[in-house]
Amino acid sequence: MQVLIAENHEEQSFQAAMRMVDVFRTKPDPVFCVASGDSPRLAYGLFVPLLLHSGIDFSRATFIGLDEWIGVMPDNPGSCHYFLRRYLFDPLGLSPEQFRLFDAQADDLTAECRAMDAFIAEKGGIDFMLVGIGMNGHIGFNEPGTDPGLRSHVVSLDATTTSVGQKYFAEKTSLKTGITLGLTQLAEARKAVLVASGARKAPIVQAALEGPVSTEVPASFLRRHSDATILLDREAGSQLK
Ligand code: F6R
Repeated sequence: MQVLIAENHEEQSFQAAMRMVDVFRTKPDPVFCVASGDSPRLAYGLFVPLLLHSGIDFSRATFIGLDEWIGVMPDNPGSCHYFLRRYLFDPLGLSPEQFRLFDAQADDLTAECRAMDAFIAEKGGIDFMLVGIGMNGHIGFNEPGTDPGLRSHVVSLDATTTSVGQKYFAEKTSLKTGITLGLTQLAEARKAVLVASGARKAPIVQAALEGPVSTEVPASFLRRHSDATILLDREAGSQLK
């Protein structure tokens, strides 16, 4: 695992964006798995023009959404669906075949999980996964206590996730369950990058990187990944020894 501490959020986001573009150097048809939320937003904002102006043919790239709130419609601006379309898929002009998001409205969510797993397997696995870290150490919606052996699954959200998650919504929204890729898919991704910024993330970043590797801090599992990079700004890295 490599830990890089950038001077500020802009530089950190640029580092993440460059790494996303670099994936195309080794593969013309990469599979990305992408988080939504505040942490990667600027990285996507930088990645989009970099890729559009690079001359790279990205028509064979595929993007997979990491997770989704169950009970939130895709056109709700607080949904992961809306976020990824707005900041990444639509600005890139992706065709519908180029992205796959969880259908959190599916009648059979277990079948939806298996369909996502099958989609990833058919694509040959995930090449690059970009994740954030929750205030409770979650990755995607892999909450504290999660089973690291899981692939896609439905999860009861932790109290921290439901309260912190309100920040994405204009109105108070009931956030009880989520659907997410699992830690096994994080472990299997060929490359994983975690982005975290701001002082409020400093304690959980410290716990994830320097505390025990434990399901209580799911992000700590990145330390067992064969190719993981942690991109922090100075504030998020401020409690590292
Ligand atoms: C979102 C996701 C979450 C967030 C995490 C941090 O798709 O997977 O795990 O990455 O909650 O959220 P922000 O970046 O808003 O601090």
